[in-house]
Amino acid sequence: MNKFYVTTPIYYVNDRPHIGHAYTTILADVLARAHRLLGTPTWFLTGTDEHGQKVQQAAQKAGMTPQEQADRTVVRFRELWKRLEITNDDFIRTTEARHKEVVQGILQDLYDRGEIYRAEYDGWYDVGSETFVTEKDLDLPEGKTPADLPGIVRIREANYFFKMGAYQEWLVEYIESHPEFIQPETRRNETLGFLRTKKLADLCISRPKSRLAWGIDLPFDRDYVCYVWFDALVNYISAVGYRRDEAAFAQWWPASVQLIGKDILTTHTVYWPTMLKAMGLPMPRTVFAHGWWLMGDTKMSKSLGNVINPMDLIEKYGIDAFRYFLIAEMTLGQDAGFSEEAFIRRYNSDLANDLGNLLSRVVKMIGQYCGGTVPEPCGTPAHGDERDLWAALQKAAGKMESSLAAYQLDRGVGEVIAAVRATNRYLETRAPWTQAKQEDKAPLRTTLYTAVEALRVAAALLHPVMPGRMAEVRRAIGLASAEPAKAEIRAWGVTPPGATVGVAGSLFPRIQPAAAAAPAAVAQPQAAPAPVPAPAPAVPGVATITYDDFMKVELRTARIVEAEKVQGADKLLRLQVEVGGEMRPIVAGIAKHYAPEALVGRTVVVVANLAPAKIRGVESRGMLLAATAGETMRLLTVDGDLPSGARAK
Ligand code: ME8
Ligand code: MG
Repeated sequence: MNKFYVTTPIYYVNDRPHIGHAYTTILADVLARAHRLLGTPTWFLTGTDEHGQKVQQAAQKAGMTPQEQADRTVVRFRELWKRLEITNDDFIRTTEARHKEVVQGILQDLYDRGEIYRAEYDGWYDVGSETFVTEKDLDLPEGKTPADLPGIVRIREANYFFKMGAYQEWLVEYIESHPEFIQPETRRNETLGFLRTKKLADLCISRPKSRLAWGIDLPFDRDYVCYVWFDALVNYISAVGYRRDEAAFAQWWPASVQLIGKDILTTHTVYWPTMLKAMGLPMPRTVFAHGWWLMGDTKMSKSLGNVINPMDLIEKYGIDAFRYFLIAEMTLGQDAGFSEEAFIRRYNSDLANDLGNLLSRVVKMIGQYCGGTVPEPCGTPAHGDERDLWAALQKAAGKMESSLAAYQLDRGVGEVIAAVRATNRYLETRAPWTQAKQEDKAPLRTTLYTAVEALRVAAALLHPVMPGRMAEVRRAIGLASAEPAKAEIRAWGVTPPGATVGVAGSLFPRIQPAAAAAPAAVAQPQAAPAPVPAPAPAVPGVATITYDDFMKVELRTARIVEAEKVQGADKLLRLQVEVGGEMRPIVAGIAKHYAPEALVGRTVVVVANLAPAKIRGVESRGMLLAATAGETMRLLTVDGDLPSGARAK
């Protein structure tokens, strides 16, 4: 494979980017930089997804047109990528003509070949989730019809469908015979499990303009726009020249790796391959779905409002420390928790103590003992401690390279830091401060030169992750070029003796955890301060109660253990909460405001002694407390750590 084409999802422009988006983009950037460093022709694509309901709704809320909403928000993505030193080769917006024309060309072609057909749909529609539903999906209570459920309407509407179902068998076979196609394996099994047990339906690829106008017109029926996912997925080929520039397209497609979060697995491992198959195009080599960054136990997500603004962390700790943390902390494929404490812990140990410290002591000693120029070593590291250290560095180089291919960057980075630690230990063993007192300066020169070479190799291996700081390391040890070359990594003796070393500034100054306590970096959702009720006069129309009356209400803290939607009731969630060791079900009308996965792990306040009730046939023992202001509803939670079952009064 003599090329490397890497893509990120194209992000919705309904809100500004957060750490989750920064993560996928940094990961793609590290892979792209590493492949360029290895001499592979590389293309790195990112961009924005600008059509569809989410963007239209955000625009409505902000009082602008969807195009204005997109134009404003895209700037935030572009600026963040620039700030993070992202080296994407292209940035595609789905509202660009170069993209829209290709989407329309594909649609027309598939329509002409009967891959897309028109059909009358007469059935149930869930207005809230914008999806067609069957009676089976709704799980109806005895004697009810779907029309009895809120938000479910009967619609009769013509739409256009892509014959996705026809590719089910082919897709199963393809995934089975290409183990590298969906990674990691858990995600591959997830898609296969779904494809083996459920019948794959055809995909509705149109939306009547009467319901949603913000999209690409269907070329064969101007009363409809294209479904946003069908439009969005095409970006990966429209950007590299499909139907526009044959040479470019032949050069880059199929993609080497398409990075996504596990939230968009089905669209990328079912819709996308069947679309490509219908177009007669080869599959991307790998779709890699990474895990989620969590805040506490919940996914960081725009719609949940628990996001961290990457800008705040960059301001505080620097770009490279931020990039390093994200790459080193997340084991690819698994979820990872984000906390500022974890950030500081890793920064102080890997960057300040190990790497930063190594550079500053080496530069300082060369200043002190060698007049500030890189000393000439005594031969090559053929034996003893020098040979062992060099072997450790070369092993780290090998691990870093194989970790790229296996998508295990955290391991590769870990190996390099281990080699840095070995270099610090080497200095302890060789004790150049003692060698400096000897008559024969050859051992001193060899020790310091070996340490310089170790720094050079480590900096080259970490360059894709921390390009700015690693360029500084190179400058500090007297190298002329800011960027490493491939051949340097495996070669001994690249640093020219006699080069002037830099001043021993601090590459990664230690973070005092106390200084970090100021919460500036962690953006808390802006909650309006709760109005404090005036104690004396009662609210008009609300009866005053005595303290004893109030004490009859048993308020307790509860930890949410499970949350799921109540079938057929679009406002209700069914929760399992744990109150001081006791589990109880609670049905709460909060589904419009909280996604189930956002709730698990949270500590909330419940009325624990409410008489049990059945709500839509589901047992409920207790009530969640929440406050509403206009359209907004927020759960009452506790201010800090508290076990469940604690009494509130
Ligand atoms: O889904 N942890 O866009 P989107 C890790 N427009 N990664 C996260 C994350 C988190 N908490 N939150 C978001 C869309 N991401 C579509 C994609 S592609 C043809 C269309 C990252 O703005 C992750 O890569 O919701 C996830 O898949 C992506 O952002 C979703 O971004
Ligand atoms: Mg999303």
